[in-house]
Amino acid sequence: MLEVHEVRLARTTADPDDHPSPPRPEIAFVGRSNVGKSSLLNTLCRNRRLARVSGSPGKTQTINYFDVGGACYFVDLPGYGYAAVPDEIRRTWGPMIEGYLERSPRLAGVVSLIDGRHDPTDLDLRMVGWLAEREIPTLVALTKADRVPRGRRRPRLEATASALGLDPDQVVWFSSRTGEGRDSVFAAVNLLLEETS
Ligand code: GTP
Ligand code: MG
Repeated sequence: MLEVHEVRLARTTADPDDHPSPPRPEIAFVGRSNVGKSSLLNTLCRNRRLARVSGSPGKTQTINYFDVGGACYFVDLPGYGYAAVPDEIRRTWGPMIEGYLERSPRLAGVVSLIDGRHDPTDLDLRMVGWLAEREIPTLVALTKADRVPRGRRRPRLEATASALGLDPDQVVWFSSRTGEGRDSVFAAVNLLLEETS
């Protein structure tokens, strides 16, 4: 099991090929801007101040590597597809995210975050399809579960899994507000890391 007592920011970079040393397996967190990537990472590590969170989209603008107890890196990425983010910035983020996912030699898996209140966007579908084509192990976290009534969760999860062409076991509900789903995502991440080592 990963130890989350000692997590520290190891590198902040805009260069997708600039990985921190020593090399370690990496778990990346992807999703639309504002979907809750940085919040999820903080919840997993039980540290609210690790990755910066903001109500306005476009908070994370670089690739941020967090060293998790010397065992792996959690990689916080900028979000995709938010209209409010200026064009110029979006043009630099696409290649950054894509370059990272395409070329990271130690990518053990990806947690793809989708806003659980809404249907997956076209970009969500493209991202998950792209990861599947490359056979990158992927877990989908449906975020902001605290905003979705309990009775609606199971049907939404199944509909989302089917839209994404995934098995429902690859999709979990998550809330950084209540901590719901934290242990499931954490267990899945541990499994991905065990499978690569
Ligand atoms: P970028 O860095 O801009 O791509 O965004 P991000 O995906 O890292 O999102 P971030 O974690 O910064 O959260 C965005 C907003 O959503 C913040 O206002 C958070 O407080 C809120 N948020 C994140 N997770 C949850 C959640 O589980 N429930 C609710 N209700 N709000 C959340
Ligand atoms: Mg962020």
